[in-house]
Amino acid sequence: MALPPKIELAVLGVSLMPGIFKDKGKLLPAYVPERLVHREQQMRVLADLLEVGGLGRLVYPKCIQVVGPTGSGKTSACLKLGRVLEQEALRVGVGLKPIYLNLRLEGASRFTIFKSMVEKVAFEAASRSLSPDEVLKQFLETLKSRKLLAILIVDEVDFHVRRSRETVVYDLTRLHELSSGESPNIVGVVFIAKDGDWSRLLDPAERSSLGALKVSFPPYSKDQVMDILEYRASEALNPGTAAREALSFIADLATEPPRAGDVRFALDMLLYSGVLAEEEGCSRITLDHVRAAYSMTLKSISTGDLEALSTQEKVVLLSTAKALSTASTPYIDVDAVRRQLRVTLEELGLNVKVAFDDAIKRLEAESLIEVKGRGIGMSIGPLGKLISVLESLIPRGVELGGASRRGGSGQRR
Ligand SMILES: Nc1ncnc2c1ncn2[C@@H]1O[C@H](COP(=O)(O)OP(=O)(O)OP(=O)(O)O)[C@@H](O)[C@H]1O
Ligand SMILES: [Mg+2]
Repeated sequence: MALPPKIELAVLGVSLMPGIFKDKGKLLPAYVPERLVHREQQMRVLADLLEVGGLGRLVYPKCIQVVGPTGSGKTSACLKLGRVLEQEALRVGVGLKPIYLNLRLEGASRFTIFKSMVEKVAFEAASRSLSPDEVLKQFLETLKSRKLLAILIVDEVDFHVRRSRETVVYDLTRLHELSSGESPNIVGVVFIAKDGDWSRLLDPAERSSLGALKVSFPPYSKDQVMDILEYRASEALNPGTAAREALSFIADLATEPPRAGDVRFALDMLLYSGVLAEEEGCSRITLDHVRAAYSMTLKSISTGDLEALSTQEKVVLLSTAKALSTASTPYIDVDAVRRQLRVTLEELGLNVKVAFDDAIKRLEAESLIEVKGRGIGMSIGPLGKLISVLESLIPRGVELGGASRRGGSGQRR
């Protein structure tokens, strides 16, 4: 006699217990959730500033800055807003396209950035023989000929302004001038930055055309991270699979220094803890899964190891990690690290000469970096976490120096 299918599976040793995850994909960074809990006010202000209700009329671009720390929901809120605008435009019979540009990834020159804008709206690519100004004009002409409105979401603009010799800020804040007073078909340009002071790096003309409209995304509190985690867990996990204290522990870790309400970190922790729980065949994520997930994020290296370095060594290690974090190769040229060191010292307000070669030797001896000819690499990570830990350990605006507390070559200045 044939067994009922459930019993058959049990006999075969297949677990009938539902897993931890209902939909793991909903915890991944690329997923934009339906709701952005505790960001309703910011979304409303952004929609008001962009006059979402007036899309049927002639539009002129507004420039808006969105500023807040890592993982505070800036990118997700702006992407969501783009979708809201797209739907609202559709409702009044207008075509609107949100154009998202991550300036950390798009390249540094005006040409590559404008070319990427053209490619997002045109059917043909921008010609290499055109100047950056011509490519930008081609972008606006394409919008006109396709009768399309656009909203430009310009992410990581503080990174761009710090790194690039030529910025796109002036061009993107003066689009109406390129269309000789006519509407350039741009509803708004939203500049996203982590650093609230980024506009101080601009020259006066750029700063003046940028204007002062700013929407702030303050760091989430522990209670807010907890609410967000509960909402995101309800989408991604099966009911009852995450102990409340586990979520609360994750919310603590995400709001204690060096993090400041970083929801990306909290969601990574939840995903990682869930995977560990599932691997162990557990039906719930417990505190120990969170502990295990957390200790694996900064693998073999502890904060104590980093604290034991001299400030000069910390600054060089931080610069190496920062330079590697924007590279697509495991090793980068030593000169790229030296260039990053100058930027890092400036960011930290440290105006001193660093004994670079000595610091590199010591970091290599401590297995914190790997040196291969002129290349420098790192196997510890993830780099984002290492960078934030180091940033929290380095005193700002003080004299460099201070010998390491550990034994070593003694040449650390
Ligand atoms: N209020 C919220 N509700 C639900 N999910 C959120 C909320 N805020 C952030 N998240 C989630 O947290 C993650 C990080 O958010 P996001 O990428 O928008 O942060 P960010 O401010 O752009 O960070 P960064 O400055 O590092 O780029 C995303 O997966 C996002 O979906
Ligand atoms: Mg972002």
